Amino acid sequence: MATWFEREDQSSLAEAVRATRRRWLVTGAAGFIGSNLVESLLQLGQDVVGFDNFATGHQRNLDMVADIAAGAPGTLSFIEGDIRDREAVAAALDGVDLVLHQAALGSVPRSIADPRTSHDVNVSGFLNMLDEARLRGVTNFVYAASSSTYGDEPNLPKVEERIGNPLSPYAGTKLFNEIYADIWSRNYGFGSTGLRYFNVFGPRQDPDGAYAAVIPKWIDRMISGDEVVINGDGETSRDFCFVDNAVQANIRAALSENDGSAKVFNVAVGQRTSLNELFTRIRTELADYQVHYDREPTYADFRQGDVRHSLAAIDKARDALGYAPTHTVGQGLGEAMPYYLDFSRNR
Ligand SMILES: NC(=O)c1ccc[n+]([C@@H]2O[C@H](COP(=O)([O-])OP(=O)(O)OC[C@H]3O[C@@H](n4cnc5c(N)ncnc54)[C@H](O)[C@@H]3O)[C@@H](O)[C@H]2O)c1
Repeated sequence: MATWFEREDQSSLAEAVRATRRRWLVTGAAGFIGSNLVESLLQLGQDVVGFDNFATGHQRNLDMVADIAAGAPGTLSFIEGDIRDREAVAAALDGVDLVLHQAALGSVPRSIADPRTSHDVNVSGFLNMLDEARLRGVTNFVYAASSSTYGDEPNLPKVEERIGNPLSPYAGTKLFNEIYADIWSRNYGFGSTGLRYFNVFGPRQDPDGAYAAVIPKWIDRMISGDEVVINGDGETSRDFCFVDNAVQANIRAALSENDGSAKVFNVAVGQRTSLNELFTRIRTELADYQVHYDREPTYADFRQGDVRHSLAAIDKARDALGYAPTHTVGQGLGEAMPYYLDFSRNR
């Protein structure tokens, strides 16, 4: 299957990346989105420094990327380190042109259970990244922001300029990232781009653990024939975004002109899916692989800190970055499924 950057409408982007061999720092490289970024960058002939402390990431993700990108023109060096360690961050940034900062502790429930650690990593760690990147004069600093920043803002679709109050410690940490990025622009002229991801999913997203995201968790449970729990009435909706779309947005942002301002963009598809619809879609998709899940979902309480509906306006990213999602939810599920079948059967 063609990779996202081999598609016709992405060819000029791929050409622009390949034209210059740059040095990229990807933090959170052993995680889900980070490892997908590394994979594409290696295939596009870039020199990548991966940075991770394996808090929620896995060596198996790096191994898989190394396999997929074996023979690819790019190079990968990996540093095991913690973004809370300023010296380690400074060392990782040595000679780096472009930063894609993904390392953070995700999950709203995790942040409610342990807000201080989420703050230390997501805010203090972020500040280390931002300030060391400024001091080293990197060309572009792109970071993982979050749709959780919209909080209790009720209107749909979500537009970048209109946010509400954050509903969880996690959302607060991601808002702090944007606030600091803005302050670093105003006071130091240091430009940056925050990408507000909306429920990203795809290969290598971890299905295990108490804080697993809904798509990998449900796929894994259906494959195993286990109970699938829906929090709330199932009409909660999200703008699920396949990881290749997020990778594209990162690379576009990194290659865009840096005018010293702090920019923020939604990264999503602009398509809303309820949890009930998602359940049916995954079940149908699995049936194509002869996995038949006959159980009905169990409905549980709504989760604290969750927003009810989420849908992004993606016009701003399209107009400023040329962002054009290559995958709908259905296409993304189709591409992710072989990974999860393989993962679940080989664990
Ligand atoms: N997946 C989504 O739907 C989504 C949505 C909005 C925002 N985000 C953000 O995107 C980024 C990547 O998320 P992901 O889904 O790939 O999660 P992930 O947990 O798979 O990846 C995060 C990576 O960061 C690493 N990390 C955590 N703390 C670290 C530390 N102190 N030092 C160094 N590395 C550390 C982890 O080990 C992991 O490999 C995060 O910033 C997350 O908040 C993700």
